[in-house]
Amino acid sequence: MGIVTVATTPQSSLDDLADVELAPETEAGAEGYDEADDEGDDDAVRREAGVGESSRASRHWWDRNADEYQDEHGEFLGDDRFTWCPEGLDEADARLLGDVRGKDVLEIGAGAAQCSRWLAGRGARPVALDISHRQLQHSRRIDLGRGVTPVAVVQADAAVLPFADGAFDLACSAYGAVPFSADTEALMREVHRVLRPGGRWVFSVTHPIRWAFPDEPGVEGLTAVSSYFDRTPYVEQDEQGRATYVEHHRTLGDRVRELVAAGFRLVDLVEPEWPAALEQEWGGWSPLRGRLIPGTAIFVTERG
Ligand SMILES: C[S@@+](CC[C@H](N)C(=O)[O-])C[C@H]1O[C@@H](n2cnc3c(N)ncnc32)[C@H](O)[C@@H]1O
Repeated sequence: MGIVTVATTPQSSLDDLADVELAPETEAGAEGYDEADDEGDDDAVRREAGVGESSRASRHWWDRNADEYQDEHGEFLGDDRFTWCPEGLDEADARLLGDVRGKDVLEIGAGAAQCSRWLAGRGARPVALDISHRQLQHSRRIDLGRGVTPVAVVQADAAVLPFADGAFDLACSAYGAVPFSADTEALMREVHRVLRPGGRWVFSVTHPIRWAFPDEPGVEGLTAVSSYFDRTPYVEQDEQGRATYVEHHRTLGDRVRELVAAGFRLVDLVEPEWPAALEQEWGGWSPLRGRLIPGTAIFVTERG
């Protein structure tokens, strides 16, 4: 759908990452994947994609595209800024997690751990988890460049969290993991398991209503062309029909039901408005669309 938009042109400003080696299993071509998507010639379809296929596609896609993603969006994200969304709502202002000082915080789908770095700066003890090794290498690159204690990072799938029960006070995710996971009911149960009673779980995703519209920043993105109720995943696939990128849709009601089923209480549903002064686009997120329809939904929940 377009949470992620990366330029396919050669990246330049990340050259200093060259001395951080890519793990062999994450290089393009691993496990039979080719570089078709890097050439921009993958098919985009709506079809079913299960847990294994979605997870595999995400890991490979983010490993291959992490450099371009950080090159294109790194400035907006900031090295130690905690922003929830392209609308630029920052945790520093929104305080959706509450007081973070002294808290053990799990960031899920952390990318280069910009949010975790902000949390560490406010006295929290964050752990940044991501499925992509290359994204986490960017976290290390930022920390090395700043000469600070590195953020603790863990490579894992959010649906199978490698932590003990009740290991964290808080969990958060800014567009990480949730939109890419086929079984978010299981993901919510895992987050519930690793949180202590009363702990907050706050995450942002593309606002579900956006699935009815073309993922375009201009006027063509203002006409509903598909059903909001169609939960069929968005899949990009290579010539062999293997998924190279997957996003999963849930309606607002679906999300509330899976959160409640996992044992969370919904505290708030934040729909950030597009700030009048913000002119910067992010893929399909633009001032034009942002002033008319919501682009982000942030679920603020508490573990029972
Ligand atoms: C849009 S980025 C968000 C990261 C960061 N908050 C940012 O704004 O750049 C999505 C992240 O989720 C990660 N991700 C996707 N599927 C995942 C999964 N199943 N488990 C853990 N991380 C996942 C990707 O590797 C990527 O780093």
